Amino acid sequence: MKKILSIAGLAILFLFSVNAQTTVSITQIDNEKKVISYNKKVDGFKDVTIIDCKKSTARNPVSISLAQFADKDVQIDFKCQVKIETTSTDKSLITWTIDDFKAGMPELASEKLPINKWVTMKGSTFLHLTGKRTLYISGYGINKETTKIYLRDLEVKVSGDDLGNTQVLTPWLEGPSLKEALNPYFDYFGIAVTWQEEFSKPNIQKGIAYHADSITTGNEFKPDFTFRWGAPKNFVNFTGENGKKIQVPANLPGLATCASIMETAKKNNLEMRGHVLVWHSQTPKWFFKENYSTAENANYVDKETMNARQEWYIKTMMDFVADWEKNNNDGKHIIKTWDVVNEAISDNASDLKWVRENSNWYEIYHNEEFIINAFRYANKYAPKDVLLAYNDYNCYSGSAQEKGGKTNSILKLVDAIQKTPDARIDVVGMQSHVQIGYPNVTGKDSFETALQKFIAKGVDVQITELDIANGDQPYSATRLKAKYKEYFELFIRNRKTPGKHGVSGVTVWGITDNGTWLNALEQYKNKKQYPLLFTADFKNKPAVDGIIEAANEAK
Ligand code: XIL
Repeated sequence: MKKILSIAGLAILFLFSVNAQTTVSITQIDNEKKVISYNKKVDGFKDVTIIDCKKSTARNPVSISLAQFADKDVQIDFKCQVKIETTSTDKSLITWTIDDFKAGMPELASEKLPINKWVTMKGSTFLHLTGKRTLYISGYGINKETTKIYLRDLEVKVSGDDLGNTQVLTPWLEGPSLKEALNPYFDYFGIAVTWQEEFSKPNIQKGIAYHADSITTGNEFKPDFTFRWGAPKNFVNFTGENGKKIQVPANLPGLATCASIMETAKKNNLEMRGHVLVWHSQTPKWFFKENYSTAENANYVDKETMNARQEWYIKTMMDFVADWEKNNNDGKHIIKTWDVVNEAISDNASDLKWVRENSNWYEIYHNEEFIINAFRYANKYAPKDVLLAYNDYNCYSGSAQEKGGKTNSILKLVDAIQKTPDARIDVVGMQSHVQIGYPNVTGKDSFETALQKFIAKGVDVQITELDIANGDQPYSATRLKAKYKEYFELFIRNRKTPGKHGVSGVTVWGITDNGTWLNALEQYKNKKQYPLLFTADFKNKPAVDGIIEAANEAK
């Protein structure tokens, strides 16, 4: 027979407020029934709380009150050491629940505990408390007569935007430096910038240099920008390695801006990710057409011609960067990784049909040939110590599936590149345009599942375009902070270490919520998004503290 029992209550620490300046201790004791005894010495720990289940008649003899947070949006971070003593031989399922029916009775932690062993239970949730709620512990399948529950180091942190503390935000040059905090874990921390609106401005350069080791340009190294949109008028000859003789544009007019960006990066001691060589988007349509024609109904070129055009483009970009580095940087690399191919996998990839179809590349190839070729050409023309990446969004989609889905398709692609003798791939770039409620960060079918599968394939992972949208949810600075912290904890615990593949760098896609690309998307029309780390007036949002906490606590 199953008995259900719910007991809770003891010395609780409520840390609340966005910046955690306030500490309130609350003790609730059910003295009458002596269900709970405090400050006992157990296993060499003092301050252990013991719940003697036998003495409890009520369902919830004691519970931790959350009444003071009634009707507020709160982030609850919970942690406790728990041990079970019982005559039962089965493991006991212990659950910590918030009794908010309207919020779906969120469970903060739930675990089958081994007998007589201390276990860390922890969990977090963000919810709107609909009235005066409590947090309680319950045990399922417990023999009430013989069970004692031991608790120590219980910590319930409650934080929210709206808990009575006025937030004072620190200017981005006065708080901690993100790159310094993250330096022990990654090769670099990066921020994406645009040239015109951002990186050309000295005050922004200063902040970026203070917080980042690396930049990615939001647009300027994309084919649309290097070609500067207009179809070429002057041509020169090029012969591809396939022997195909073609005409190619005499120059790339956008490279002057690329050079200014590299010069500015160098001055500010920043390295770069090159983004991007081969992509279905932000690449002129005429690049794929016979005679580079802009006519809507112009024919696509054949594969052989397109192979040569792709080879020429990759070679041109690599040569340009190598020349610049030679002439301006003593030959040292400023671009350390290239996104060779971006977003080439279908959103609803199946095992057999996984290449993106709405793409001018696909119109010519109808398969993955152009992707593999790109990694061959990149390997041929890039310096050997410059990393080559495949970059995509929603990389975690279908991560727990055996076949199909985006995660498996990326693995399949990596495999194909690895098996091609003259191709090379070093990195899977997980763009990571995530939402606050999706995907799961860890667990069975999660971001972490995908990440670990990539690493197991023998490549490193770079987080290339992180931003965390509030999506349909109202924005909460507290919740965003907790999410950034959760992601950085994940990146840090899966980091690259000597001799072991892992996460080698993280880049956040943009500086301020004013500049985020998300608010220009149709999807977010009338739903303002606040996904980034800095306010419009360049102050640290609490999300910055979330990253710093993740870095400090991992030490
Ligand atoms: C975005 C830029 O941030 C925007 O300014 C531009 O209008 C569209 O592209 N995945 C990518 C990035 O790989 O290149 C995209 O950048 C965002 C999605």
